[in-house]
Amino acid sequence: MRLRFLLLRFYNKYWLKKIVNAIKYYLSRKKTYLKLKYQPLIMDIEPTTGCNFRCTMCQVSDPNFKAINLNIDTFKKVIDENKQLIKIKLQGMGEPFVNKHIFEMIKYANINGITVEFVTNGSLLNEEVINHIIKQDICRINISIDGATKKTFESIRVKSNFDDVIKNATNLSNHIKSNRFKTEFVALCLVQKKNYFEIEEIIDLCKKIGFQKLYFQVQLTGWGKKEWEEINKEQDINFSNEDIRNKFFDLKIQKSTKDFKVDIIEENLLNFKNKCSYPFENPYITSTGKVLPCCMIADERIVNFGSVAQNNFSEIWNSDNYQNFRENINNNNLKSYCKNCYKEFR
Ligand SMILES: C[S@@+](CC[C@H](N)C(=O)[O-])C[C@H]1O[C@@H](n2cnc3c(N)ncnc32)[C@H](O)[C@@H]1O
Ligand code: SF4
Ligand code: SF4
Repeated sequence: MRLRFLLLRFYNKYWLKKIVNAIKYYLSRKKTYLKLKYQPLIMDIEPTTGCNFRCTMCQVSDPNFKAINLNIDTFKKVIDENKQLIKIKLQGMGEPFVNKHIFEMIKYANINGITVEFVTNGSLLNEEVINHIIKQDICRINISIDGATKKTFESIRVKSNFDDVIKNATNLSNHIKSNRFKTEFVALCLVQKKNYFEIEEIIDLCKKIGFQKLYFQVQLTGWGKKEWEEINKEQDINFSNEDIRNKFFDLKIQKSTKDFKVDIIEENLLNFKNKCSYPFENPYITSTGKVLPCCMIADERIVNFGSVAQNNFSEIWNSDNYQNFRENINNNNLKSYCKNCYKEFR
């Protein structure tokens, strides 16, 4: 984060709480504590599991996956108990703008000195929504762009309309240029066999729209479920293959410019030395108020440490179950659903 950006974020009535907590975090960073002396600096909060799309690789498309909106009072309770937060990511399973309280959530976070990032499918970003969000402190907006043509995009993002998403993204891009908080405008592309052949065109399209960055995510999660692991393994491009890696790294160098950066997200390709840090720093709150270790599972039926509607967040953060989970990560004693994230098991 740039210095000006940081100062802007810290300049609010909870700045002392945030700075003290951030210092505690930085001092504990390289240690292997299980009971943490700090509260998270960043949190993922899932506004909803409802969605207007049915993407082929996403568990939201599963008929058994229920659409639930996060209650605004639960959201406010989480924020009230976590004034130390610097940023929340309004993201999860589902499309954030499906929850009609999303603007109230952004505003409530902002008045508590918390900046907001979100990930959206771009379909609901009409003029009214853009006018709402552009006035708020939003540090980053990510739009998923999984194809450069209508055919490819809509074959992955089922029920979408490619032209609408591109129109909305272009419109938002123009507004962002005049945004006082300097929102980062990012495209996310989940690379899979269905769109791999279009990656150069996807880069050109994202540049034309006016994105500042394009991140290629090269690994599909199976959401900790056998059936989804099988479906998504089929689509895996095998990024560990040298030719495929080289192609991505060449494109990254050739196509990146001063104003447009192409990069590859490899952060979830963990290994026994580079262990997962999520349970130590970035909890995930589901739309039902459950606390999960990360965004990779995003289903409380697989793992959860308790409910923020019933307990204080800090009790859950250092509960026995959370601490045991951290210990297992430290010892590479991984739960079956964590193995998908580690190189040793792929
Ligand atoms: C679950 S979506 C939620 C936000 C919004 N609905 C969207 O599509 O951008 C967040 C991101 O997860 C990605 N995603 C979907 N299925 C995935 C999978 N199986 N593995 C990894 N990422 C996935 C999407 O492409 C999107 O960029
Ligand atoms: S738009 Fe996002 S949440 Fe909806 S099905 Fe697609 S990836 Fe899942
Ligand atoms: S290793 Fe486990 S905790 Fe870490 S990101 Fe993967 S599923 Fe989440």
